[in-house]
Amino acid sequence: MLNGKKIVLGVTGGIAAYKAAELTRALIKEGAQVKVIMTKSAGEFISPLTFQTLSGDMVYTDMFVPTAKYDMAHITLAEFADVFVIAPATGNIIGKIASGVADDLLSTTIMATDKPTLICPAMNDKMLANPVVQDNIDKLKKYGYAVMDSTFGELACKTSGSGRLPEASAIVEEIAALLTPKDLTGERILVTAGPTEEPLDPVRFITNLSSGKMGYALARVARWRGAQVTLITGPTDLSLPPGIEVVQIRTAQEMYEAVLEHFKKSTIIIKAAAVADFRPASLAKEKIKKSNQSFSLMLERNPDIISEISKNKGNRILVGFAMETQNLLANAQDKLKRKKMDFIVANNLREEGAGFQTDTNIITIIDSSGNVEALPKMTKIDAAVKILDRIKDTTRRKGKRKK
Ligand code: CTP
Repeated sequence: MLNGKKIVLGVTGGIAAYKAAELTRALIKEGAQVKVIMTKSAGEFISPLTFQTLSGDMVYTDMFVPTAKYDMAHITLAEFADVFVIAPATGNIIGKIASGVADDLLSTTIMATDKPTLICPAMNDKMLANPVVQDNIDKLKKYGYAVMDSTFGELACKTSGSGRLPEASAIVEEIAALLTPKDLTGERILVTAGPTEEPLDPVRFITNLSSGKMGYALARVARWRGAQVTLITGPTDLSLPPGIEVVQIRTAQEMYEAVLEHFKKSTIIIKAAAVADFRPASLAKEKIKKSNQSFSLMLERNPDIISEISKNKGNRILVGFAMETQNLLANAQDKLKRKKMDFIVANNLREEGAGFQTDTNIITIIDSSGNVEALPKMTKIDAAVKILDRIKDTTRRKGKRKK
């Protein structure tokens, strides 16, 4: 997600400083190069050695250290970075940046950079609610800094409230969004994801192996690229992506109703969900008992959601998925025509690294003019980027939207 990105992480003196270690690790895992600046008070909470070990680089703490080579750290760090992140950001550093104070390496480097900067406040809830701190946060936003909301929960001072540092994964997500050019601004993208569950009694249901990973990746990348995203999702184990309107459903019928409700206001619809084609014809009120040796289950058809919406598609872009185990191209081409999609993303469940559950996919994109683009194995995030690139091209070709 952050392959090759250069990140300068500023760590300031709050108890959440220990969580910055986890963040450093997560950034490195995502392929980023990380340099850490610590303030003096951050060093009271956590040792520079922790960050040195995790980042694989020296940790910057002092403005005025004589070195063998003449090097102005605040300028070289400001130029090195693709993005700056301050996590945790105390009320003190927020106040200093907001008022133009540069009295240590971190505040001076921030003053010297014009790179995107993400500030992640974390402090006691009363400190965060202080109108001076709130004014300073507003000021930072006005100056173009990205400020992440802190989360609600138990705080180190034994109270509960707002002021917790968000999880490392949520900060990584925000960094990815900040670094992504906003070429889908103005688009309203509806994504469906995950499996549906079709109950037959209070404790049993029919479902499939969809994990939702491909649909969630599409929703996330679309948001990073500036689109307004609605995600209609069946039950999955994934955490709900931030910055996205999420509608949670269980059955195909509920997904159908949610799609009908949201599709009119959408400009692009991506149907990545694995929708159950059939549901039990009747739903038993009580648990079905094993009274006989055999048991037959009568199934009835669910609505074909994509076929229904394609009837009133207008100039919206409609993208479907085809998961196949045989005759990939022929089956996908048939679905593309039958369901009147602009293009279909096909994958073969028999190929290793493709399909349900995995973090990778091997996709073939087929459009309504018959063009076939077979792509190699890649992460689902990269596959989402390719699919959205294709959507972007289609909007350009159709010439009906701004660039
Ligand atoms: N789809 C849908 N509603 C359904 C079933 C499928 O909208 N009831 C959508 C899926 O989200 C996907 C596309 O249609 O984008 C193709 O799904 P797939 O299950 O492969 O198609 P089916 O028509 O159900 O074909 P099959 O006979 O292979 O199950």
